[in-house]
Amino acid sequence: METSEIRRRFLQYFEDRGHTVVPSAPLPSPDPNLLFNVAGMAQFVPYFVGQQTPPYARATSVQKCVRTLDIEEVGKTTRHGTFFQMNGNFSFGDYFKEDAVKFAWELVTKPQNEGGYGFDESVLYASVYYEDDEAIDIWKRVAGLPDDRIVRLGMKDNFWSMGIPGPCGPCSEILIDRGSEFGADRDWEAGDRYLEFWNLVFMQNIRGEGGGKDGYEILGELPKKNIDTGLGLERVAYLLQGVDNMYEIDEIYPVIEKASELSGRKYGAEHEDDVRFRVVADHVRSALMLIGDGVTPGNEQGGYVLRRLLRRAIRSMRLLGYEDPSLVELLPVSLEQMKKSYPELVTDFGRISQVAYAEEEAFRRTLTAGTTIFDVAVRDTKASGAHQLEGAKAFQLHDTYGFPIDLTVEMAAEQGLNVDTEGFRSLMKEQRERAKADARAKKAGHADTSGYRELREKGVTEFTGYQELSSDSEVRGLLREGAVAPFAEQGETVEVVLEKTPFYAESGGQIADEGLILGDGLKLKVLDVQRPVKGLIVHKVEIVEGVLRPGANVQAAVDHEWRVSACQAHSGTHVVHAALRQVLGPNALQSGSYNKPGYLRLDFAWSSALDAATRSEIEEVANLAVRKDLPVSAQYMTLPEARDWGALALFGETYDEQVRVVEIGGPWSRELCGGTHVKHSSQVGAVTVTGESSVGAGVRRIEAFVGMEALHYLGRERALVRLLSENLKARPEELPAKVADLAERLRVAEKELERMRAAQVLEAAAELAKDPKDVFGVQYVGHRAPDGVNGGDLRKLALDVRGRMPNDKPVVVAVLSVNDGKPGVVIALNDLAREWRLKAGDLVRIAAEKLGGRGGGKDDVAQGGGTDAAGAGDALSAVEHAIGHQVTG
Ligand code: ALA
Repeated sequence: METSEIRRRFLQYFEDRGHTVVPSAPLPSPDPNLLFNVAGMAQFVPYFVGQQTPPYARATSVQKCVRTLDIEEVGKTTRHGTFFQMNGNFSFGDYFKEDAVKFAWELVTKPQNEGGYGFDESVLYASVYYEDDEAIDIWKRVAGLPDDRIVRLGMKDNFWSMGIPGPCGPCSEILIDRGSEFGADRDWEAGDRYLEFWNLVFMQNIRGEGGGKDGYEILGELPKKNIDTGLGLERVAYLLQGVDNMYEIDEIYPVIEKASELSGRKYGAEHEDDVRFRVVADHVRSALMLIGDGVTPGNEQGGYVLRRLLRRAIRSMRLLGYEDPSLVELLPVSLEQMKKSYPELVTDFGRISQVAYAEEEAFRRTLTAGTTIFDVAVRDTKASGAHQLEGAKAFQLHDTYGFPIDLTVEMAAEQGLNVDTEGFRSLMKEQRERAKADARAKKAGHADTSGYRELREKGVTEFTGYQELSSDSEVRGLLREGAVAPFAEQGETVEVVLEKTPFYAESGGQIADEGLILGDGLKLKVLDVQRPVKGLIVHKVEIVEGVLRPGANVQAAVDHEWRVSACQAHSGTHVVHAALRQVLGPNALQSGSYNKPGYLRLDFAWSSALDAATRSEIEEVANLAVRKDLPVSAQYMTLPEARDWGALALFGETYDEQVRVVEIGGPWSRELCGGTHVKHSSQVGAVTVTGESSVGAGVRRIEAFVGMEALHYLGRERALVRLLSENLKARPEELPAKVADLAERLRVAEKELERMRAAQVLEAAAELAKDPKDVFGVQYVGHRAPDGVNGGDLRKLALDVRGRMPNDKPVVVAVLSVNDGKPGVVIALNDLAREWRLKAGDLVRIAAEKLGGRGGGKDDVAQGGGTDAAGAGDALSAVEHAIGHQVTG
């Protein structure tokens, strides 16, 4: 049975039993403590904990998940995958254990020709939380399982949570016995023989902090008893498709086949190669799905996970012997399989592939650049007689050039070296800890959201800012350092929650509103506004005057000017986005944006720089849209309606049932957006594109000023042109030719100057030759030439002076000059001096030492230099001293 069919049957079965089919949430997790969604229940957490009232009592979904804890395990075992899908049915205080078991059992055992999965009952087992007698009773009654096919397991196996504080509960799993070739009788731990494939969680508790699967405290009960189940779609697929593991199912295996075709190696021949094939197939699929949900490769958080997945896939292809770009071959194969369940991948594939291919290109460049550094490291290591590449080198290769450690180890082995992986790992650990600390510090709010949740329980903050800029309101509560506080005084900076507010909380790229909150003897300056948990708007304020207490009546007033400019900037962002897509095509999709009064920037999927003409064209289209005075409006509709309408959604955002669509000029620009906007496009004012740059593989950034800021910007440019025009005494339109002419004349003049300086230097030769110093019989010329003489000219000078001097006496000529702050020295000897056992190389070394550098060369002419110009005088007298020492010694 195809994976997409298993999925379809699941949703159908539960829909027929009163469940609302809910689409998968995007992969990035809404919880700041998790990178990606790891279970189907993630999007329902607010319903379980009673923070929101669910719009339905029963739901079903197939959730996209990514678990990255054991990336290294992928392919080595048969069960670890990074991307997987979890089919789930959920009850929010509706049915509980008995129906959960009944539904699961029926669907699993119902014959395939009746719409079920048709598993043979005789090989199925159930595990239950060890003290859950009720569940045991249900399995016996409802499923007819005998005692010996029900096992009691401990908290580690049969108590489920997301791994972080939140909802949790005892669970019960359906296991299948795959037969003795997969392991020993009744060995529940190993996991291969008795494979669990459907987990029924009786979600009834709330847990606290703590590590591991059993190292946390149960804090109490949830308001209601709920059901959360998870059927591993890939697991069921490999069981029903008669293959050994998840990598061989219909959604994944074709990538392995393609990789085998490209590399010429066979899957199933050697364990090492098999692991590589599986890594390729798993990672390519995960990357496809992650990029599909708006993740882009980067160096932090989810972006880093994606980068690692892509690089590991590319690297594994190379280890399989395939050196050409491989994603361009593999990604379309993965798409072919995944589009059956995710048709949106087809429309997004232009953007997705652009991001992936650009990352591969970057990684290939990395490999090339890193290889040179690697070669030097190997040479140095060998030269020092060591057999081990330092951990610090491996770390540098990893950190700066993105070289995975296994690559370094392997390449070192080819050179007969091993690598201090221990040292490498400890450096990695240090770095990870640094990064973690940074991430914690960076997060706007507090990772512990319990204070916010406490205030959220008092109700949703009503946002009035679409209709008005000033609202009468009441203080609901305040937080100091994330904890609810009874009051706060003048001078403190705290967070305050109001019953309703016109202040826009930073989101969708638009920064928070500024303004004041005023009350009886109270004045608060609003510094920031955030929405740390859904439904709660939190103002970070400085208490300028008075004492802040819950219950106070206040007037919350947004700064009018600020908001007008903020609206201009946000509408301007939509205008620029639409213009980009009009000029570049629909693939130029926004991946992020930021706007504040007067300024906007927009990141979009595109892999090459925009030339000046394209930039002007985008600017022109944007300004035309402004001039047309297009109406701007916002309306609410369901997400599917919005999509039908062609409204652009941001990847990775979770949208509510009802979404807000902002239109500018009807279909010209339609985006899902919660921001504040102008009423007519003409209110955006002028749009001036100021820059365009790269912000990562496959992502470009365009920046612009809008409204008055655009005029100010142009004003500054005009002032600059006027200044140049005055200084250069040319009309503005003559400036380019004038500057080019000046640059050319400067180049010619510099050349001439250089020639003259060299001539002048050489002219000194005759004078110098006439006036040597006698150092114990040696004719010594020690001369500091003017600054700026290069090495070549110094050499010419030294040889010229030597040539002009008598040959019947030993001659040493030393000339020195400081060029670009760096002293250089040349020493030339005649034959007789050498007979006197003087050597140019030795003398240069002595001089260079004084210059803080090195030097050397032949016996008759040698050259050196250093970095310390202050040693120039000393250098020449040291040479003189050394001559005396040599001929008298
Ligand atoms: N949330 C449960 C799991 O992930 C069903 O196993």
